[in-house]
Amino acid sequence: MADRYAVIGNPVGHSQSPRIHALFAEQCRQAMDYSALLAPLDAFVAAARQFASDGGRGANVTVPFKEEAYRLADTLTPRAKAARAVNTLSFEQGWIAGDNTDGAGLIRDLTVNRHRVIHGKRVLLLGAGGAARGVVLPLLAEQPALLAIANRDSEKAARLAEDFPGTRASGFADLAGQSFDLVINATSAGLSGAELPLPAGIFAADSLAYEMLYGRETPFMTRARDAGAAVADGLGMLVEQAAEAFLIWRGMRPDTAPILAALKNA
Ligand code: ATR
Repeated sequence: MADRYAVIGNPVGHSQSPRIHALFAEQCRQAMDYSALLAPLDAFVAAARQFASDGGRGANVTVPFKEEAYRLADTLTPRAKAARAVNTLSFEQGWIAGDNTDGAGLIRDLTVNRHRVIHGKRVLLLGAGGAARGVVLPLLAEQPALLAIANRDSEKAARLAEDFPGTRASGFADLAGQSFDLVINATSAGLSGAELPLPAGIFAADSLAYEMLYGRETPFMTRARDAGAAVADGLGMLVEQAAEAFLIWRGMRPDTAPILAALKNA
């Protein structure tokens, strides 16, 4: 019998996770059944517990349930605590372990797939919501020279920065005159096609602009490309956070390169 896993979300039909984990399972010769589970907006906890009692071994959690998953878990890793959100649940005998692999996925895509060094570099993180919070601790662990957090609502950026000594918070306009080696867009502005009011000159020579969204060209990406920056979307982060979850569940890390290539060609 295959071990059962699922991604739980609402909506969840668009999720690439079942495909990615099926490819991982095939590559690693693991007997796994990974499905998409749509939970009602007001019944995530019931859906997760039901899946566990039906024999589910683990679940990925996506929008909008990551904070609820954080509260559901009996144990949390330091990176899940820092994120205040959980994207990977493991159902053990009688208890639930919560982790967050999003930040690790970003770092791996940046450093392994894209050969970027973060240590000693000037990094700018755009946004102060859940997506931004989820990557701050793993970014700091790479020891950048500076981690600046900028948000439309600068007070929200300040509140996020307060939780992470060593970071610096501001609004977008305050970035005038500064430049960065790595600019990560963790806002959801691209979903609505909204432009971010970034001052000119924030992309240093040889900089990388990283859009956490994938599957679309966002105004942030276009802007960065026009400014001469290298541009990446979040597909690699998606695959790498999945690989990190697979590692937690199965004790082995899949080779992500062929899977990423297959998704890019699809
Ligand atoms: P997520 O979990 O995806 O991070 P969120 O917690 O709702 O979602 O946060 C969305 C982020 O995108 C916030 O930083 C938000 O900025 P505000 O805090 O100022 O609202 C940012 N965002 C969304 N739309 C934006 C836009 N059009 N321009 C600038 N920032 C935007």
